[in-house]
Amino acid sequence: MSKERVRVGIIGVGSISHAHIQAYKQLPNVELVAACDINAQRAEKVAKQYGIPHVYADYNEMFKEVELDGVSVCTWNNGHAPATIAALKAGVNVLCEKPLALNAQEAQAMVDVAEATGKLLMVGFVRRFGENAQFLKSIIEQGELGKIYYAKTGCIRRCGNPGGWFSDKKRSGGGPLIDLGVHIIESALDPM
Ligand SMILES: NC(=O)c1ccc[n+]([C@@H]2O[C@H](COP(=O)([O-])OP(=O)(O)OC[C@H]3O[C@@H](n4cnc5c(N)ncnc54)[C@H](O)[C@@H]3O)[C@@H](O)[C@H]2O)c1
Repeated sequence: MSKERVRVGIIGVGSISHAHIQAYKQLPNVELVAACDINAQRAEKVAKQYGIPHVYADYNEMFKEVELDGVSVCTWNNGHAPATIAALKAGVNVLCEKPLALNAQEAQAMVDVAEATGKLLMVGFVRRFGENAQFLKSIIEQGELGKIYYAKTGCIRRCGNPGGWFSDKKRSGGGPLIDLGVHIIESALDPM
């Protein structure tokens, strides 16, 4: 990654991928090289929308054909482990959407491959970068809360149950806890 431009691919080009793509687009040192989705039509459409030159329906093909420095894994939750492991083994750094995996075993396997390959694996825990988390962290560091021995946290999705794959346990791995709970558990356990 010492080159001038970082070559990035996107795996899964549904809703959240637009946030990734639009953020990458703002970075002058990032080149969006490839878009991949099992929904080939969607992949074509998103690639055209953002001027991404290479389009794939299978990420293994993508890894064979284009040289990438990093990928965003934005598939349903059940795709996170296989896509991440394939990327890491192909020598590609990964920003994987949350939740990292469907369960702890899968997550550990991902971390093991990241360590074995020496590639980066980051989880899309965006809330830790939010102003509220940053503020809380700053007052914790100033000692204003003393020694913290207990944390209680809760979360409500203002838009309700999104349905679709979120309600299909095979693809989501669970309900609100794995979807929203991971954000706040992560913030409570490991504030930035
Ligand atoms: N960080 C956040 O705050 C945040 C917010 C929203 C969603 N997410 C996460 O992002 C992920 C995607 O959510 P979404 O709402 O964009 O879903 P979505 O259904 O809109 O998009 C997912 C896309 O992945 C594609 N896909 C599925 N399996 C694939 C595979 N094996 N290879 C290639 N493409 C594949 C689907 O065809 C679909 O186009 C979920 O894990 C979700 O938890 C994170």
